[in-house]
Amino acid sequence: MIKKKMKRQILISILIAIGINPDYATSFQDHGPGLGSGVSSEEIAAWDTSVFPDGEGLPRGEGSVKNGEVLYKSKCITCHGENGLGTTTGAQLAGAQLDLTSEYPEQTIGSYWPYATTVFDVIRRSMPMTAPGSLSDNEVYALTAYLLFLNNIIDEYGVMNASKLPKVKMPNEDGFINIYKIEETFR
Ligand code: HEC
Repeated sequence: MIKKKMKRQILISILIAIGINPDYATSFQDHGPGLGSGVSSEEIAAWDTSVFPDGEGLPRGEGSVKNGEVLYKSKCITCHGENGLGTTTGAQLAGAQLDLTSEYPEQTIGSYWPYATTVFDVIRRSMPMTAPGSLSDNEVYALTAYLLFLNNIIDEYGVMNASKLPKVKMPNEDGFINIYKIEETFR
């Protein structure tokens, strides 16, 4: 019977013979594979932008419907059309005539979106489609305010910021099923 120590010796010789030095294994564990580089807190902050339905994650800043209208006309109208009515290259954002239960439902911010806070999130992370991430937080607040105005949710003098946006009640908020609440009932 081969002793344990001998078995290990044979295994190591085989590994060395096929080009694997078992000593490397421990050095890899100690130092990592040596790929990539550390991430700075600024780099993390640039990606860590999620805004949740209750407003968690909303940044400081403020923007008015009036400023939003100017920005919309220079940066969004080519794709989303006059008054947010949509074009062939950009989604309809406002002005739904047919509701969600009709044969041809129009999913706009006013007819469909459950929370105003996530409108901010989507604009900040992905719009304008050709230059995502290029808008300042004040500009995103202004554009969110303007889109809420186009959907008759706030008036033309409206201003949005981190405390006001979560308080906006969206027309279709109750049109969604909250799966977490369902789980609670069955628990
Ligand atoms: C180059 C065209 C283009 C430009 C410019 C553009 N968008 Fe968009 N946008 C799109 C397209 C296409 C979609 C649909 C993408 C999808 O559904 O995934 C979209 C989706 C959106 C949505 C989500 C709509 C929904 O119901 O899902 C919002 C909000 C929005 N855009 C706002 C803006 C704002 C504000 C600007 C200006 C700062 C802007 N967009 C500029 C093309 C554009």
